[in-house]
Amino acid sequence: MNDLTGKNVLVLGGSRGIGAAIVRRFSAGGANVSFTFAGSRDAAAALAGETGATAIQANSADRDALTATVAAQGTLDVLVVNAGTLVLGDPLELAADDVDRMIDVNVRAPYHASVEAARRMNDNGRIIVIGSVNGDRMPFAGGAAYAMTKSAMQGMVRGLARDFGDRGITVNSIQPGPTDSDMNPADGPMAATMHSFMAIKRHARPTEIAELAAYLAGPHGSMITGSLQTIDGGFGA
Ligand SMILES: NC(=O)c1ccc[n+]([C@@H]2O[C@H](COP(=O)([O-])OP(=O)(O)OC[C@H]3O[C@@H](n4cnc5c(N)ncnc54)[C@H](OP(=O)(O)O)[C@@H]3O)[C@@H](O)[C@H]2O)c1
Repeated sequence: MNDLTGKNVLVLGGSRGIGAAIVRRFSAGGANVSFTFAGSRDAAAALAGETGATAIQANSADRDALTATVAAQGTLDVLVVNAGTLVLGDPLELAADDVDRMIDVNVRAPYHASVEAARRMNDNGRIIVIGSVNGDRMPFAGGAAYAMTKSAMQGMVRGLARDFGDRGITVNSIQPGPTDSDMNPADGPMAATMHSFMAIKRHARPTEIAELAAYLAGPHGSMITGSLQTIDGGFGA
């Protein structure tokens, strides 16, 4: 159904969690996948060995390193910007530098990587960023800065969809709800609170997010652009 054979794909932040599931799904679909990681060298090497994908160490917070990495991939068919960080807490207590580092990774990097990829992307390419349902709904205290970064992605995909639409390039955000990963373990201390906001009261599996990414990247996704694809078990309903 979703033929990714021969597609050149770069996943930013692919070593763990949702990104790793996307690397596995796209590799299984026949794509040529490269992925970046920041610090998880062992996890990245294991995933590369398992899937045949290429692991590249590149910190998304370093704009020059990031754009050089994207440019070095040459002509891409698909860019997936998954790398993201989560800083939660009382805004009166949070360190300003920690908030700014999150803004670097969650906002600046997706924009600059997307633009750099589009410079040499094939017609009918795909840009997919991993946002969050928190871009629409932040139902507990302490998440203002994180929610702000994910809301910023919404404006970016709407605008870039119009900038690149004449080349058939689609630009979309996938907005997961709680999804089992190191960032948000299904058995973590916040799980019950998060499930209380949901219609389907469980964390998503990273593979469920990866299937949506594969759909958007495949031939059936060609008219979906400038959109927010929420996959959250009803968290935002
Ligand atoms: N899990 C959830 O409930 C949930 C819900 C909504 C949205 N999201 C979003 O989904 C995305 C993935 O989340 P996750 O839960 O899979 O997180 P995760 O388990 O913490 O994994 C994060 C991945 O991003 C990479 N990464 C982080 N900072 C990076 C940087 N500066 N440069 C390059 N790579 C970097 C990590 O690489 P290293 O291994 O090298 O650190 C890792 O591969 C994020 O954008 C997150 O905001 C998650």
